[in-house]
Amino acid sequence: MFLPDSLKDKVILVTGGGTGLGRSMTERFLELGAKVAITSRRKEMLESVAAELTAKYGGEVFTTGVDVRDPEAVSRMISEVWAHYGRIDVLLNNAAGNFISPTERLSHRAVDAVLGIVLHGTFYCTLEIGKRWIEAGIHGTVLNIATTYAATGSGYVVPSATAKAGVVAMTKSLAAEWGKYKIRLNAIAPGPFPTEGAWSRLMPSKELEHLFERQIPLRRMGEHIELANLASYLVSDYSSFVTGSVFTIDGGESAWTGGEFNVLDEVTPAQWDMLEAMRKKG
Ligand code: HXC
Ligand code: NAP
Repeated sequence: MFLPDSLKDKVILVTGGGTGLGRSMTERFLELGAKVAITSRRKEMLESVAAELTAKYGGEVFTTGVDVRDPEAVSRMISEVWAHYGRIDVLLNNAAGNFISPTERLSHRAVDAVLGIVLHGTFYCTLEIGKRWIEAGIHGTVLNIATTYAATGSGYVVPSATAKAGVVAMTKSLAAEWGKYKIRLNAIAPGPFPTEGAWSRLMPSKELEHLFERQIPLRRMGEHIELANLASYLVSDYSSFVTGSVFTIDGGESAWTGGEFNVLDEVTPAQWDMLEAMRKKG
């Protein structure tokens, strides 16, 4: 449904764009004609990914290293991308840090590691680019990658839930405040999408994957292209009246976990027959 030049000549900056979902979204943007910049801490990894992607799709992938927890490094990184392409149209805040742990086992440094990347990093990138857009009169777009549990909270990933909830609040707040500059901000709340980065830190074991799958009505994890297509829509001009919104893409997981009676999935047809017979008997 996307025309091949849906994102033609849009300059899109993707934090954490060298791995996992960031890389998959970058690939789709390239396919749709965008010019892309990817950034994260590992510069060499980014360079080899850029070489791979340009060989596969053509187009241009600019790379620059940054630790998004450092506001001065963020400012330098954005200057570099801006100088290279002459402007930036879209910021995709995708970089994140996360791991599972009982909260009482965390040190304050562990809390800071996650809040620093997810909340501060997302805010620094957005603020730095927003100031430049406002000054230059550019109608830019920010897309933030949140999580479904930003809305509900979740045990065992409490720093991440706290930080992502902040990201959602920032998305809605700035959509309200910067609408007058024609700057749009939206967020995607993905359910589980297998990536090396997330699975190595969050999936306790291969054997326990089914526990997560069981709470997804579509009975499978997400495929990267499904998320990449939603992101492509939200950074494109097709979504020009969409701002301040959070889009859930989770195979129905949050609908399932939020519904008191959905545990009745466990009741078999024979048991339903029995329950019905008992009800009819009064
Ligand atoms: C408890 C931990 C820990 C763990 C690190 N720490 N890992 N504590 N359990 N598993 C503690 C360390 O002991 C240290 O505290 C502090 O955190 C900082 O650790 P460092 O290793 O020095 O941090 P750093 O090198 O900055 O790395 C940041 C990181 C790391 C977040 C800890 O995992 C990382 O680089 N992650 C980036 C990629 C990522 O996380 N991808 C997953 C995204 S998935 P002390 O006190 O010992 O000094 C996602 C949503 C998935 O976000 C949702 C799925 C449905
Ligand atoms: P990932 O591959 O580990 O992605 C995280 C990226 O962030 C990496 O490229 C990493 O690169 C970068 N990064 C981490 N710390 C950074 C820092 N301090 N400065 C700059 N970049 C940093 O994991 P993923 O699963 O694709 O996650 C991508 C996004 O989706 C995240 O926002 C995550 O919260 C969200 N999400 C994922 C899932 C899922 O199921 N996979 C579900 C919900 C939400 P470097 O190591 O090179 O810095």
